[in-house]
Amino acid sequence: MRNISSLRCLFCAYPKNKFLSKYFSNQVHRKAEQIINEKRVIFSGIQPTGIPHIGNYLGALKHWVELQNESDDIYYSIVDLHSLTIPKSRDFMRDSIFNITACLLACGVNPDTTVVYQQSSVPEHTQLSWVIGCIVPVNRLKHLPQWKEKLESSIDGGGHIGRYTYPVLQTADILLYKATHVPAGEDQAIHLVLTNEFAKSFNRMHGKFFPETQMISNPTFARIRDFRDPRVKMSKSSPSINGRIELTDTDSEIHSKIKRAVTDCTSQVTYDPENRPGVSNLIQIHCGMCNITPEEACAIACNMDTGKYKSLVADAVIDQLSPIREKYLNIRKDEVKLKMVLDHGAERARVVAKSNWESIRELLGINIAEIS
Ligand code: TYM
Repeated sequence: MRNISSLRCLFCAYPKNKFLSKYFSNQVHRKAEQIINEKRVIFSGIQPTGIPHIGNYLGALKHWVELQNESDDIYYSIVDLHSLTIPKSRDFMRDSIFNITACLLACGVNPDTTVVYQQSSVPEHTQLSWVIGCIVPVNRLKHLPQWKEKLESSIDGGGHIGRYTYPVLQTADILLYKATHVPAGEDQAIHLVLTNEFAKSFNRMHGKFFPETQMISNPTFARIRDFRDPRVKMSKSSPSINGRIELTDTDSEIHSKIKRAVTDCTSQVTYDPENRPGVSNLIQIHCGMCNITPEEACAIACNMDTGKYKSLVADAVIDQLSPIREKYLNIRKDEVKLKMVLDHGAERARVVAKSNWESIRELLGINIAEIS
């Protein structure tokens, strides 16, 4: 139970007797403190860079929906500033923001209980990011695999500053709301390490302010692989559209992509992500879609060859995705409503972001508003 109002009611029932009142006051206080400490602040983000794929869905969005409740503070951000690190056209960006918002709602994100908003509508993200950038050593960032990858992939060996400082902005996203939990795929774990390191060093300098942040993910389907090349993770930017299933794909596209998924020469269905990445990827997808374990999936597939199993997995994916696709097509038509959802979310996010940012300014000694 995380609802404090029921405890307040309990306390209110005993005000007459002084002794009882004090006793219950202490009890309720202790319980309330425990409950407040248990309250989670959940934050996560997704880039508006196209229609989410089943990797995004299983690694993140499925958790986002399942985690929703009345008692926690939940923020799901469409991290548009992050997506500027790979330049896209104005029309693409605008469209993608609406597409992602519609996808979140179609998956079951509820904007009444959850704050759904655009990152760039809350300026404190970039303000805090600057502060973090002034504290995190460049050498620390250089150790992130991302830094090396970007250097290697950029033609002139330099590239844009935003690509290197991306993890700094991500740390700011999480800490701006003092998030305790981040539901995300495996690729985000490295960022969480940086976030916690930064939070610790900030707390050492200024007193305990930021909480420790935990990642929420299911190791079985936290890293879904590309169907065409199961050595790499499924990605919105992978070269072949056949490597990923997007949430809006038709039933026949889903069947055809899974049918053509690269596996290996063994026809048996066994779970071995290291040595049989292709077939293990199908098992992981099956597990995520049906909430079963790899052992259960293999038991279901014990008399099937990979060809037959692909068909079963495709049906499981269709069962989950076709209602989402239908809802998406409906919701996506109404941009006015989608904008209202984002505006309302931004208003709510700004209240918390502003308050936390003011406290951070105070700790840094740059908030002189209180001096008369
Ligand atoms: P993005 O937009 O690349 O992905 C959104 C979420 O989907 C997860 N994901 C996957 N999970 C399993 N298998 C895959 N193949 C797969 N591909 C993507 C990602 O782990 C992510 O949870 N940097 C983030 C956005 C971000 C963020 C944040 C996330 C910005 N600030 C703060 C968490 C907290 C990103 O690029 O996500």
